[in-house]
Amino acid sequence: MSNDKLLTTYPSPLTSSMQSQLSKTFQSYFATTPLVAFAPGRINLIGEHTDYQEGFVFPAAVSQGIWVGIQKNGLTVCRLYSMDFAQEFSFELDFISPKNGHWATYVMGMCALMKQSGYEVAGFDMVIGGNIPVGSGLSSSAALSVAIGTAISGLFDFEIPKKNIVLYAQKSEHLYAGVKCGIMDPYASAFGAEGKALLLDCRNNTHVEIPVDLGDFSLLLVNSKVKHSLADSAYNKRREACEESVRHLQAEFPEMLTLRDLTISDLEKVEKILPTTLFPKAKHVITECARVHEAAAALQSGDLKSFGKLLNASHQSLSQDFEVSCPELDFLAEKAQSLGYVLGSRMMGGGFGGCTINLVRKTEYHDFQSILSDAYSRQFAKSPDFIPVAIGDGARLV
Ligand code: GLA
Repeated sequence: MSNDKLLTTYPSPLTSSMQSQLSKTFQSYFATTPLVAFAPGRINLIGEHTDYQEGFVFPAAVSQGIWVGIQKNGLTVCRLYSMDFAQEFSFELDFISPKNGHWATYVMGMCALMKQSGYEVAGFDMVIGGNIPVGSGLSSSAALSVAIGTAISGLFDFEIPKKNIVLYAQKSEHLYAGVKCGIMDPYASAFGAEGKALLLDCRNNTHVEIPVDLGDFSLLLVNSKVKHSLADSAYNKRREACEESVRHLQAEFPEMLTLRDLTISDLEKVEKILPTTLFPKAKHVITECARVHEAAAALQSGDLKSFGKLLNASHQSLSQDFEVSCPELDFLAEKAQSLGYVLGSRMMGGGFGGCTINLVRKTEYHDFQSILSDAYSRQFAKSPDFIPVAIGDGARLV
């Protein structure tokens, strides 16, 4: 197969054209010029399934994202148009009833939460567009909520602190999408910084920016193009397993609030206390938090080999101990790890589908895509997508 055909399935994001397309669509629907907000998707270098145990994560915003055009309409109704779905939707601000599974839920969810906090949201028109491949694991839903929050706050001069927009986005996902997610995705979307990853402490929700200098290597996502149907309920179950572990462990560790409070030196004791079904899950969270710190240190000292090894160890732990991988992700990570010019590869995000994140030598990009594409297609009768990522800034009015 010609290598050229394999070149990145997704074009690099054409930010300005996306924005002007959105403004044009807005003009043609609502005959006025919108205020436009942008919020990016995110990658996570390492630190998976640790955020909801107040642990550490290491995400970054990407340049792909969601654009939201908005303008006041002087009504009590909000009129929406989604460019991706080519669908309209409208709702009364006084009768918000978010429906699980519908894109407009994210708009209604953010409005409901802002209103509950006392913000006087009035009628608006909105157009939503974006270039995040849905289901890729780049967290399009967090980007959508953060973009909506940024747009509404900007339109009505609410000046809502970014951190509150992040908390609304997380709560909206809990209440209206039924996923008990952590803070990582909206946080990275709101606070991302170009060329930097965020070493985020999910106990006090503060971060330190760490420059991502990968030298001859760069990050490439491989989208397995699978999303297992029980992913959301399995995610919630993993979270519950961690909470149950904490309840078992608190007798022996009275000071602990979450698994984040334990270290690798506690593992022996933890194993004696926890049932065999729970121990591997707790072990993942405890070891993953340690890996986040080691990875941040390795990146800072330019030790990319150690950084890559930590990515591989994270995959192993997510797959074997936390059990959130799937055959497709295991296949992609293992194949990538077997290539000499790949320093590290692991599943990224909640799991049960989505992407792997890979640290690949730039000169071998074509070879990498060709080998993975051929092997994956032979095994699973579908070809993966390749998504290059550049680390960009967080949410803003544009
Ligand atoms: C999803 C959730 C995040 C986080 C990751 C796993 O992306 O939204 O809060 O828990 O899974 O690290």
